[in-house]
Amino acid sequence: MPASDLEATMKLIIAGATSLLGTEIVRQRLQIHEITQVISLALQPVQIDKSIDTSKLKNVVIRDYSEYPDDVKSELAGADACIWTVAVMPLRTSKVELKRVCQDYTKLGFEAICEAGPARPFRFLYLSAEGIPRDPTNMPVIMADYHIMRCNTELMVLKFPTEKERVEVCIARPGVIANSSIWSRALVANLFRIVNLFGRPLPNIQRSQLAAAVLQQVMDGFEKETLSNADLVRIGQRELEFRSLSQPS
Ligand SMILES: NC(=O)c1ccc[n+]([C@@H]2O[C@H](COP(=O)([O-])OP(=O)(O)OC[C@H]3O[C@@H](n4cnc5c(N)ncnc54)[C@H](OP(=O)(O)O)[C@@H]3O)[C@@H](O)[C@H]2O)c1
Repeated sequence: MPASDLEATMKLIIAGATSLLGTEIVRQRLQIHEITQVISLALQPVQIDKSIDTSKLKNVVIRDYSEYPDDVKSELAGADACIWTVAVMPLRTSKVELKRVCQDYTKLGFEAICEAGPARPFRFLYLSAEGIPRDPTNMPVIMADYHIMRCNTELMVLKFPTEKERVEVCIARPGVIANSSIWSRALVANLFRIVNLFGRPLPNIQRSQLAAAVLQQVMDGFEKETLSNADLVRIGQRELEFRSLSQPS
């Protein structure tokens, strides 16, 4: 199907829509008029600025990401794409919980969407992070267990197209998301900005750029299987520029 046809009827699932990134994706998505349905899949309803029209938004609230009762599956049915943002940082939880949230939930969510019956092709974009090794025997020095677990999760996602017909996948690997409405994250992002002024820049991306980049990729098709931070900045900047030029003056 040409990208324009897909866009015209697109139903998109944003898993983890209450995340820092997920909320921005939902916000931008609701303002793209070609999109017919936005499904927010999360543990609570996503909070969106009151000035934005939310008539295309459906909040699908689940108890956790391992259980998908029939009423939830019926909301997921017919999706054209999913952006998966559910993950947790290593400092916040135990090793077992890390794997459950970052890896097991991804697999169970993907399977539930497939059981619900997605559109074909079905695009699945998984958010990982810059610096995750692609080779699990390549042991990183810092947070080795976490990096290997996320590497194995990427490899698991890359196999999805061999398990289900007409499924396309993409791994997006952003650096630090460099602006935030949450003060602690804004502080970290500003520290990064200062470090970048004096040394070799650490990979980072504006939240609006990242949301625009992943949305463009699920709408128009994946440019490649793995998108680096530099790819995401380039695509996001181009997409935001394009949208500002297309605004009626
Ligand atoms: N933030 C960054 O600087 C950065 C950098 C590189 C890569 N990334 C990647 O980008 C993606 C999105 O990042 P983000 O910062 O937007 O994520 P985030 O705000 O930390 O949110 C992550 C999502 O996972 C859910 N979650 C976390 N722990 C959970 C648990 N124990 N059980 C169930 N759900 C849980 C959260 O649910 P609630 O909303 O209900 O808490 C939320 O929907 C992630 O894959 C992350 O690894 C982020």
